[in-house]
Amino acid sequence: MILLVFIILMVNNSWGHGNEKHSSDKVMNKEKKDLFKNKLIYEKINSQYLKKIKPIFQKSCFDCHSSRTVFPWYYSLPIVKQVIDSDIKEAKSHLDFSNNYPFKSHDTPENDLKSIMKSISDASMPPSQYLFFHGDKKMSDSEKTKVKEWVKNSLKALDQN
Ligand code: HEC
Repeated sequence: MILLVFIILMVNNSWGHGNEKHSSDKVMNKEKKDLFKNKLIYEKINSQYLKKIKPIFQKSCFDCHSSRTVFPWYYSLPIVKQVIDSDIKEAKSHLDFSNNYPFKSHDTPENDLKSIMKSISDASMPPSQYLFFHGDKKMSDSEKTKVKEWVKNSLKALDQN
């Protein structure tokens, strides 16, 4: 029994050691490859984004998720200003569309796409209290379809990676 444990330990050890350098080299190479591949895919996704999606986001999302906020007249009211400022800060810390795709965020570029899909599907974005004041920022059904298509195609491209 003890001998068996000893043998297992020995074998394990030598495997562990022998493989360590090898596999970490492999990981490095794979990471580098992935990074390069991803970069190309991100560029593709971004070119579609610039062409089809950005104008929609500029209209419906940029007021909160970018540094290009167009402030409404009531922004000058003291308490309103604070509420709006903190909303924008919060929105931008989650997702900042200012510099195109991949977006600046606290998550991966892939998860950002998924959460955008979710926010469009469940109509949680743009927030309803915002749309109450900015009816013109509402997304049309065809705009929603465009965004969903873009997300779907982008996720597929990332998946095939
Ligand atoms: C009135 C401001 C406002 C507008 C306009 C707005 N958002 Fe948001 N968004 C927020 C805030 C605040 C949060 C963070 C709190 C939350 O999740 O509700 C958020 C969070 C999100 C999240 C979740 C991010 C995460 O990591 O959890 C997504 C996705 C998102 N917004 C997408 C959009 C899209 C797409 C649009 C435009 C179609 C949009 N938002 C328009 C304020 C806004």
